[in-house]
Amino acid sequence: MIEKTELFTRSIGTETDVVSKEMYTFVDKGEDSVTLRPEGTAGVVRAFVEHGVAQTDPKTRWWYLGPMFRRERPQKGRYRQFWQLGAEAFGQGSARVDAEMLAMLRDLFEACALPGVAFHVASIGDAKCRPAYKAKLQEFLRGRADRLCEDCARRIETNPLRVLDCKKEGCRAATQDAPRLMAHLCDECRAHFEELRRSLDLLKVAYEVDDRIVRGLDYYVRTTFELLHTGEGLGSQNAVGGGGRYDGLVQDLGGPPVPGVGFALGMERLVLALEARGAAVKAGPDAFLAPMGAAAVERAMVLARELRTAGLRVDMDYDGKKLGKTLERADKAGARAAVILGEDELARGEAKVKTLATGEETFVPLADLATALQR
Ligand code: HAM
Repeated sequence: MIEKTELFTRSIGTETDVVSKEMYTFVDKGEDSVTLRPEGTAGVVRAFVEHGVAQTDPKTRWWYLGPMFRRERPQKGRYRQFWQLGAEAFGQGSARVDAEMLAMLRDLFEACALPGVAFHVASIGDAKCRPAYKAKLQEFLRGRADRLCEDCARRIETNPLRVLDCKKEGCRAATQDAPRLMAHLCDECRAHFEELRRSLDLLKVAYEVDDRIVRGLDYYVRTTFELLHTGEGLGSQNAVGGGGRYDGLVQDLGGPPVPGVGFALGMERLVLALEARGAAVKAGPDAFLAPMGAAAVERAMVLARELRTAGLRVDMDYDGKKLGKTLERADKAGARAAVILGEDELARGEAKVKTLATGEETFVPLADLATALQR
């Protein structure tokens, strides 16, 4: 969660918003400057290099889920601590791997019934073609500096590509006919992008080519993508994920020349998108045990443990008194079923299982309870 600050300045780039404005950086006991990680890729690459993984496992895939930190202006869908789910694939430069990753993301969105995500893809070239394009863009922008906002006027010299990504009306109008990187790719980058398109078609992954994509991190080469939620619920923070290729990064951070590609999803934004379409995002327990009387509470404690061991999520009431109150709690917790353990039921070795959504009740032998409660 904490890395040396230098890791991020070297990988994400000093001129990016993330590094220049958004990192939580402090000095640890007067020794090192450390930073709460603003994203996951840099740390994954650091670990990949530090543990010499390229020697033992040259084609390896990684994933992570955890909190990231950026000092951004908080608003809906944009937080100072947020969670990313990410994956990285090392050792394969082919655009087929990029397509496979996008196909996996498409399947993930389908699996959580979130079809309204547009996949915007682009190529942002490499060290061979980007410098010449950058110079061309700078020349174009210098001629229009007076029409750009203060930030963008400064970016002409420091990070000209970011100017194309400015949301301000004036800047968008001023750059409408700016030269586009996609029209200035070298032969290798163009072939790589065509391979990506062919592979996406082969895998039937729908996408749009978007030559305005400018990722806010400097390590990208060639393939970049943004996953934009098109439905209700997210407002302006509609990027549910993003990623791309970073073929030079392992080497920049002291490793061998190993290509890499990956993505990260913003978990809070995914949850907002799911909520907006009415999905029940919070899963309640599978069963809420409602014992009546002290002996039943003790029996329920043992039963709860057995059911949890069988893989069920179980909550219970420890007072054993008011059934009505316990059923209310079970309902509020979003439990699927209440398991009522009264003296009569226990004497027969049974429980009364009430499905909370329908109110339907059945008697189930205690020995069969785990099976009966499985979804
Ligand atoms: P990113 O586009 O900076 O990429 O972040 C990925 C996703 O994290 C965004 O699309 C968004 O959903 C979420 N996110 C970013 N900032 C915030 C925030 N302040 N609040 C809530 N959600 C946020 C990366 O971080 C790259 N490391 C992705 C990658 C992996 N590229 C290659 N491998």
